[in-house]
Formats: sequence, structure tokens, C-alpha cells
Amino acid sequence: MKIPLDRKSREPIYLQIKDKISRLIKSGALQPEERLPSIRSLAQILQVNKLTILEAYSILQADGIIFSRQGSGYFVNKSNMNLTTSTNMKSTFAPAQNVIISESAGNSFFDIHMSAVQAQINERIINFSYGLPRPPQDMALIGRRTITNSIDSLFAYDIPHGQASLRRQVAQLLVQQGLEITADNLIITSGCQQAISLTMQYFLQKDDWVIVESPTYHGAISILENIGARIIGIPMNAEGMNLELLEKYLKSHRPKLIYTISTQHNPTGIATSQSHRKQLLELAEKYQCPILEDNAYEGLNFEPVPPPIKALDKQDLVTYAGTFSKTLIPGLRVGYMVVTGRHYQPLVERKLMDDVHTSTISQAIVSEYLSSGHYRRHRKKLQTENLLCRNLMLQAMEKYFPQEAKWTVPNGGLFLWVQLPDNIDISEIRQQAIKEKVLFASGSAFFPDKQGYPAMRLSFSNTSESEIDLGISILGKLLKKCIYTGCDNYLNQQLLI
Ligand SMILES: Cc1ncc(COP(=O)(O)O)c(C=O)c1O
Repeated sequence: MKIPLDRKSREPIYLQIKDKISRLIKSGALQPEERLPSIRSLAQILQVNKLTILEAYSILQADGIIFSRQGSGYFVNKSNMNLTTSTNMKSTFAPAQNVIISESAGNSFFDIHMSAVQAQINERIINFSYGLPRPPQDMALIGRRTITNSIDSLFAYDIPHGQASLRRQVAQLLVQQGLEITADNLIITSGCQQAISLTMQYFLQKDDWVIVESPTYHGAISILENIGARIIGIPMNAEGMNLELLEKYLKSHRPKLIYTISTQHNPTGIATSQSHRKQLLELAEKYQCPILEDNAYEGLNFEPVPPPIKALDKQDLVTYAGTFSKTLIPGLRVGYMVVTGRHYQPLVERKLMDDVHTSTISQAIVSEYLSSGHYRRHRKKLQTENLLCRNLMLQAMEKYFPQEAKWTVPNGGLFLWVQLPDNIDISEIRQQAIKEKVLFASGSAFFPDKQGYPAMRLSFSNTSESEIDLGISILGKLLKKCIYTGCDNYLNQQLLI
């Protein structure tokens, strides 16, 4: 096997080897089930230490690209050929492109959060409402070990920036995604929610215009409403935010912030292309409008995604927010923000004023988990499980949903988005579904005016295979009844969970 190495490059040798082998496999030069050279022979051929090869093979194995057979060595994985092709279903999502200028306020973030948390304790409910990861099996053990080994400093006050060791670990993860940053550009936050809140409160004042995707994450809409900002919802199509409309409103309204979820957007699951990211940043530069890039679903993609917008940012216009809520456990409340340039210090000071610092114990548990070396493998496992569940959900929707329903086919994340005909009363469907023990998030919560078009967000991450089929068949039956015989036929009943 020929692997040219650049020994002067800043990229470590083991990563160069890993990348080259990965490319050989993806190009078909190495076939499924083909045996890779042994660690010892490849180390000899490349004139490197055996540990370097072991490191490269371990990453390829964790990524599911190769597998090991005890006593026989390493082989190319059979299922390596793009798992997403296991379903040929294409997205038919193509909503009307209406900009929403928000007038009304409401409380749907609170309502959805409360009903989803309550549904967690109601085991009989099929919960398509909430996006939660399956926690790593060793998390409880790691939590206990962290607390047992905790030094006294973990129980004292800490700096608002976050623990230096955790910031270094997060910086390493982000550098791998293409961000040119160090630990000094990071602030550890109490979840991504706090990163969004701090950033929005920093850039916006009452009555300022702000641009969001429409639909968008309802937790961000709530913060904007609380600030008293005036929200412009730029419609999402299958490619992401409509950039022509974005430019129109950047020119006419001179907003003070663009809030975007570039990768595995909540609620649609869409990830934008490299060129969409580039154009969005160019528009922000042209009109000197800061961007808040929320990447809460980072690392949950089934296929490679382009580097975040922050990786292209040369003018310190982009604040980047991420979290461990979607890949580890949300209850720890550990997120982070990347801030480069002059905005860093004021944002650290705001963090101090907000809650002094993120829980030291939570930070230490996440740090301990990251140093255990299992994080990459755990994310790979989540991706594989989520992909399977996404495919099952899509297949069930093909089988049970009316043809009038259109949906996105996300290449990662936890949700898909279903666009329904205009005459559907989605709150009625939701109430009927709850009576039949199925919970989903009503699309209206994700639009700045709390209406938008009739839609539902379905999470494919929380339910078993049989629940997916049963839950989708119930929803399909309700939708068909509503479309073909009219939603008025339903009895109006109170939401009871
Ligand atoms: C897009 C998006 N951003 C932020 C958050 C909040 O994440 P965290 O639990 O880290 O506060 C969520 C949670 O659902 C989300 O979907």
C-alpha cells in the first residue's frame, strides 16, 4: 500500500495515514472485506512507529470504516458504502416562500418543553416530540469516578470562561471541524441555550431587527421575544435560508443579528452546502451584520458536512455555539461558544453576571468522558442508530402518510419535518394523537408568528423500531381522516398529559 507522507506538515502523521486509507476505501481502491496490511508491516513500509498505525486504525475503526477480526487483523467494512443510500427516498419539501415579520408573542417553548419532559415519565407514550441522545453506557461510571476523584477546587467558585482542560479538549474537537481556534476563544456555557441567550442579549436591544430562519428553534424565538427584538423570519427551502430574501431584508431593515442553524437545522434537519454558507457569510460581511451560528447537532451527521460558517469567518463576525446535550446528556448542561476578537471579553463578563460559571462538576464529568477516548466511538454509534431509526421512520411515512404530506430527508440530527396541506388543523391532530398516546411537536411553535404553515416535527431518536411503525401509522390515520373527511369531525378535547 502506497501512502505518501508529508513529514514537514503540521497535520500529525497518524491523521495523514487515516485520511489516505479512508480515501482509498471511499474511492473503491480498497474493497469491502479486503484485509489491510498488519500494523507491523505498514509501520515498516512507512517507517513509522507501530503506535502511529494503531492510532490511525483505531480512528478508522471508531468511524465504522474498518473493523478488526480477532487474530486476523483489520478489514474494510462491508456496510461502509454510504449507509444513507439504504433508503432511496427523496425529500419533497418545497414550502411557499413567505417572509414572516413577527407581531405576536406566545409561550410555545415553555409549553412544548413541559409536555415533553412530562412525557418522559409517561412510559406508555410514543414520544416523537423531543430530541434526546441515548446516553453512553459508561456515563454513570464516569460520573461516579469524577465525583470520587474530585479535588476540593471542584467544589469552589471557578472562572467564568470554563475549565482550561475542557476548553482545550473542545478546541481540539472544533479544530478537526476546520475552525482555527484555541482554548482562549472558548467560553463554556450552561448548555447551548445560554450561549444563544448571552449572544442575543449582547448584540440586540429592544426593537432591533433580527433575522432568523423560518421555521427555527423555538427556544431562540423565546429569547428574542423576551429581549423585545423584532423578528424577520426568512423562509427555509430544501437548501436552507432563502438568500435572495435574506439580502432584500438585510438591505431594507438593517438587522443587528442573523441567527442560523447551518447543520442539521432544528426543526427541518437540513444541512446547508458549502456554497450556501459562503454566500451567507458574504452577505453578512457586505451588510456588516453579525451571525450567531448555532451548531447544537454538531457531530450527529450521517454524511460529511461542510465546515461551519465560523471556519470561513475572517472578520470575527460569527459567534459559534455548540453543546454536549445532543451527543452526551442534556442534564449536565454543558455547552460552549466560540468568540474571536473584541467580543470575547464582554461576553465572558456577561457569562459571569449570568450564572458566574457553568457547574464545575458537570464540566469535569464531560472532560473526563472526553479524555476516556470513547467520545468519537460513541458519536459514531449514535449516528448509526439514528440513521437506522430515520430510515425506519421514512419507510413508515411512505407507507402510512397521505400523499399530500411533504417531508425533509435529513442527513443527520434527530428530527425530520413534515409539511402538511393548508386545511389541516395541526393543534387538533396533536390533541387526537395525544389521546392515542403519540406525542409530536406542532410546527407552529417554530415560526416567529407561531403559525406558519401546518407542519409537525418528528424526532426519530427516542423511540424503538416497533414504536416508530405504530406511532407513524397512528399519525397517518389521523392525517388521512382530517384531509379526506375534514378536521371538524374531531371532537375538541383538552390536551391531557
Ligand atoms: C438548535 C438548538 N439550539 C440549542 C438548543 C439548546 O441546547 P442545550 O440543551 O445545550 O441548551 C437546542 C435544544 O434542543 C436546539 O435544538
